Amino acid sequence: MKRRPLIAGNWKMHLTVAEAKSLANDIAAGDIPSDRDVMLAPPFTALAAVGETLKNTPVLLAAQNNCWEEKGAFTGEISPVMLKDAGCVMAIAGHSERRHIFGETDILINKRVAGALKFGLTSILCIGETLEQREAGNTFIVLEKQMRQGLSGIDGFAEEQLVIAYEPVWAIGTGKTASETQAQEVHRFLRNLLVDLYEKNIADNIRILYGGSVKPDNVDILMTQEDVDGALVGGAALQAESFIRIINFNA
Ligand code: 13P
Repeated sequence: MKRRPLIAGNWKMHLTVAEAKSLANDIAAGDIPSDRDVMLAPPFTALAAVGETLKNTPVLLAAQNNCWEEKGAFTGEISPVMLKDAGCVMAIAGHSERRHIFGETDILINKRVAGALKFGLTSILCIGETLEQREAGNTFIVLEKQMRQGLSGIDGFAEEQLVIAYEPVWAIGTGKTASETQAQEVHRFLRNLLVDLYEKNIADNIRILYGGSVKPDNVDILMTQEDVDGALVGGAALQAESFIRIINFNA
């Protein structure tokens, strides 16, 4: 079973509109092999402009978050319909920074996943344990809870519409990456959970990305792992050269 790899860049709270357009342009002009998907998630203020830049290129546009409602009194939120209007085809949900800095819960994140799918966006559900949880031997308990609650009631989607991103919190922005063995161990566990939640043929087609200090010098080995189907990249996605190298992983 070989799933189509997805290399995703999460720009977090970086770049003005002009900077974002320029970087998107440089990335889209790079060498992008046709056997993989590439996605960029700019900040909300740059979505529409980057959407224009990426038109007629193979690079997909994503939002870093989404509301579950179409419209209404939800100050500070952005609806999936608005995101599609700006050119998005995907949205991230439950990033560890949303969970840990802004207090988003599994229940809230579950609504975000459901909302994205309902309005036709692919949802990228992020999960991950903290260092404290890993050292206490609770990695799998934490991940199982995040998966089961994040995906509660989520059903009837096309396989490519749901993506899981395993991002160990201790590896995000720290320069410490999970080893390929650690990543594969978790990804296999998550795949088995998906088999339990859905059917095997669906679980086999859901992509599971690894995120946390993915760089040009570690992407190749990570991508050799059977259940690592792509990468969610932060810091190294902010420069065209390093991100294009990551897109061109050799596994
Ligand atoms: P870094 O690649 O900077 O560690 O960030 C990972 C991440 O959080 C992507 O969503």
